[in-house]
Amino acid sequence: MKADQPAAARIAILASGNGSNLQAILERVASGELPVTPALVITDVPGARALQRAATAGVATRVIAPGDFPDRAAWNQAIAAALKSANVSLVVLAGFMRIIGAQVLEDFPGKVLNIHPSLLPRYPGLNTYQRVLAAGDNKHGTSVHFVTEELDAGPVIAQVVLPIREHDDEQSLRQRVLAAEHWLYSLVIGWLATGRVEMRSSGAWLDGKVMDDPVRFSESGPP
Ligand code: GRF
Repeated sequence: MKADQPAAARIAILASGNGSNLQAILERVASGELPVTPALVITDVPGARALQRAATAGVATRVIAPGDFPDRAAWNQAIAAALKSANVSLVVLAGFMRIIGAQVLEDFPGKVLNIHPSLLPRYPGLNTYQRVLAAGDNKHGTSVHFVTEELDAGPVIAQVVLPIREHDDEQSLRQRVLAAEHWLYSLVIGWLATGRVEMRSSGAWLDGKVMDDPVRFSESGPP
């Protein structure tokens, strides 16, 4: 790094399962497309595939499982402590299947992102594919948003909107959404890491202007 270049933001990624979003982030960091330093991967699930993916990329890992703590508050404190000792400035939830507690949100105000497989505010919570198909909607997608205390309700920064095709089922829709997530998340993490996007009391701001709507992309990617 040149002396006049600012240090890349250190980020932590929290994942509970497969970790394909984690993998996509690590690949974009490795290729130089995403200017951040992945400093720590935390999982709440011992044996999660995300752990192997992180280890292969040489990123430090921690398993912080709720069952190892007397209560939720103690578990949440442990996560907050791990984030602080890793000296990260951004926290990225990538398929983290638990609600992050107030301590982390207090410690990292406006610096916690999540990716959720629906066009928020539609379908917060679980089973979005089943629900969107059962409702007969003609579009679905994914949203990257700032995390606040209310589940999947923080300001949305960007979305990918996909038409639901006649023959789409849960599996085909999930594959298309995941493929979109794999480029969308890195794009938005880059915006946050470089200060293009920020959370203020009025919501999400991009390039110094309040966002009336999220940035919306089609499945084919950014222009
Ligand atoms: C993604 O679809 C993400 O939107 C949701 O959980 C899924 C995680 O998938 N929050 P993976 O573990 O990254 O493959």
